[in-house]
Amino acid sequence: MRSSKLVVPVILLLVTACGAPAAGRESKEPESALVGVTMPTTTSQRWTSDGENIKRDLESRGHRVDLQYAQNDVPNQIRQVESQIRAGAKLLIIASVDGSALTQPLLMAAEAGIPVIAYDRLLRGSPNVDYYATFENFRVGIYQAESLLSGLGLRNVDGSPGAAAGPFNVELFAGSADDNNSVFFFNGAMSVLKPYIDDGKLVVRSGQTDFQAVTTLRWDGETARKRMEEILTTAYRRNKVNGVLSPYDGISLGILTALKNNGYGPAFPVVTGQDAELPSVKSIIAGEQYSTIYKDTRELATATASMAEAVLKGRTPPQLNNLNDYENGVKIVPAFLLNPVSVDKSNYHKVLVESGYYTDDQLR
Ligand code: GAL
Repeated sequence: MRSSKLVVPVILLLVTACGAPAAGRESKEPESALVGVTMPTTTSQRWTSDGENIKRDLESRGHRVDLQYAQNDVPNQIRQVESQIRAGAKLLIIASVDGSALTQPLLMAAEAGIPVIAYDRLLRGSPNVDYYATFENFRVGIYQAESLLSGLGLRNVDGSPGAAAGPFNVELFAGSADDNNSVFFFNGAMSVLKPYIDDGKLVVRSGQTDFQAVTTLRWDGETARKRMEEILTTAYRRNKVNGVLSPYDGISLGILTALKNNGYGPAFPVVTGQDAELPSVKSIIAGEQYSTIYKDTRELATATASMAEAVLKGRTPPQLNNLNDYENGVKIVPAFLLNPVSVDKSNYHKVLVESGYYTDDQLR
């Protein structure tokens, strides 16, 4: 009896050991795979939550996780990815500092047969990226611009023309030029704002409207503060700025500091944002920042962990819902996109507290 029971697992082991499974065919799930996760920085709350959420999710599925933060330093991130490859990682999940700077470690991963999932930021210029998990980035930009228009009174929330006629003075900020998302956010926003700029309802007094002119290296709030101060002292000596398109909460807070340093407040221009980071949500409640875009990093982490699980089993992740839009310069990377939500003072409680993302206590 005993020996016949032992025969089956031995045969199974022999069958599974007969070479790698064909692409797309299900293989035996590794008991506990090592997954390398690299995030850009701990200076932004969202990335620490992203990292912790992915780690927790993968560990609850029985995997081991090496989680590293690059502190916005490209050589550091290259070293981290390479050391995960050398440590025997079976899968890499990467939120890059500079999306085009990892072609060498990605080649090294491909040569070792390690699949790669780009997390939130697309990895560019390499064929060696398998999947991408992110949000509807173009729509993020649309929501930021719509919120700017609503805050100014040019547009009602339902899309109908608002009570205000303008013209309003606005300034434009974009994210880091080395982050593919920055282009999507900016293009999404400009698809809404350009007609208003063209017909004079919005005026950009600095004249800085090109993507390259308005980018903010590494999404740095201090860099944004300096640029805003510069704009205020040169283009707004006799005028007031009424609104600022900001692509990210850290940048929004830098812009608000510049505004305060230049005598603005207690009523502030309409300043948008993204990520629903705690200091910005508090700022929205205090009536300073006008809005943000909420992206549920818990959902992104869970989706990515389950994509990882599928990939580790040799399957194509079933979640993929965009096979067209994320061309990385070499290939189109199959993507899974989640929906962002626009948040301001009117709905923060419903969206952020009732969903359990924050507690009331955290927002006090
Ligand atoms: C982007 C991301 C944004 C924001 C920004 C700065 O790549 O999509 O949500 O976090 O980086 O960290």
